[in-house]
Amino acid sequence: MYSQGLINADGSTHEDEAFLEAFQERIDREEKIEPNDPMPEGYRRTLVRQISQHAHSEIIGMQPEGNWITRAPSLKRKAALLAKVQDEGGHGLYLYAAAETLGVTREELVEQLLQGKAKYSSIFTYPTLSWADIGAIGWLVDGAAIMNQVPLCRCSFGPYARAMIRVCKEESFHQRQGYEIMLTLCNGTPEQKAMAQDALDRWWWPSLMMFGPHDSESQHGDQNMAWKIKRFTNDALRQKFVDATVPQAEFLGLKVPDPDLAWNEEKGGYDIGPIDWDEFRSVLKSGGFCGRDRIRNRRRAEEDGAWVREAAAAFAEKQATRQADAAAA
Ligand SMILES: [Fe+2]
Ligand SMILES: [Fe+2]
Repeated sequence: MYSQGLINADGSTHEDEAFLEAFQERIDREEKIEPNDPMPEGYRRTLVRQISQHAHSEIIGMQPEGNWITRAPSLKRKAALLAKVQDEGGHGLYLYAAAETLGVTREELVEQLLQGKAKYSSIFTYPTLSWADIGAIGWLVDGAAIMNQVPLCRCSFGPYARAMIRVCKEESFHQRQGYEIMLTLCNGTPEQKAMAQDALDRWWWPSLMMFGPHDSESQHGDQNMAWKIKRFTNDALRQKFVDATVPQAEFLGLKVPDPDLAWNEEKGGYDIGPIDWDEFRSVLKSGGFCGRDRIRNRRRAEEDGAWVREAAAAFAEKQATRQADAAAA
């Protein structure tokens, strides 16, 4: 599956068992791998794939919530939501920068997204139907993101690990602002509480799907664990999320939409009912309910922003000419 070539500084590659062993030893010693260090081609490719998908998810993830900025119910909510959506844009940018250290350009990655060729998390193709969805996304989607991302702060690749430290601090604010929206709705009128329940009903299962397929079905799991790109399996992270979130739902007085949900004393965690992977696969296949809109909006934003990039480039060129003239004078 993975080509295990070694890339030399001049771009040539070759297979070398001793190198691969030495690389694994560095990983086992918990040394951080930095961009200029030699690394197996499979390691580099896995990281480019994972970091770029992560970056695209942050950028596309701005849309479902951006949809509610103009309709936030108060100035305070609007300010918090605006800050959150801007944070997500920032996360995308750190991550594109981390991917660039592996030899791809941001332009290439953005182009793949605009052409609809790049993958991003399917959760962001679901529509946001009510204000309560903004609460549910912060609470559940950012909550699931935290579970996935906290272990990435210890990822073996230095730039990714360091980007994740700041990202996780911001995600924790996102999760709290979402939960606080849910709490306010749940302490409000019966209609508001019903809205919160409806949002939980629609976002619960897609949030569990964010952890990816079960370990038994996961393709790259073992190698990524060995390289310490991943620290916990999909199922272990999903379990942590369920165990942390169910008591929060109880505190809100909401019902998790899973008739099979039950505390398992023996494992010290909750058992959940079967996940509808057909839905997951059909979202991946069709591009999801809002998938086409998400890409169309991104393309429009790229076109609308073209003048800014052109103006910045023209200004930089003018500055350079002036500096050159001044130096010559
Ligand atoms: Fe984020
Ligand atoms: Fe977030």
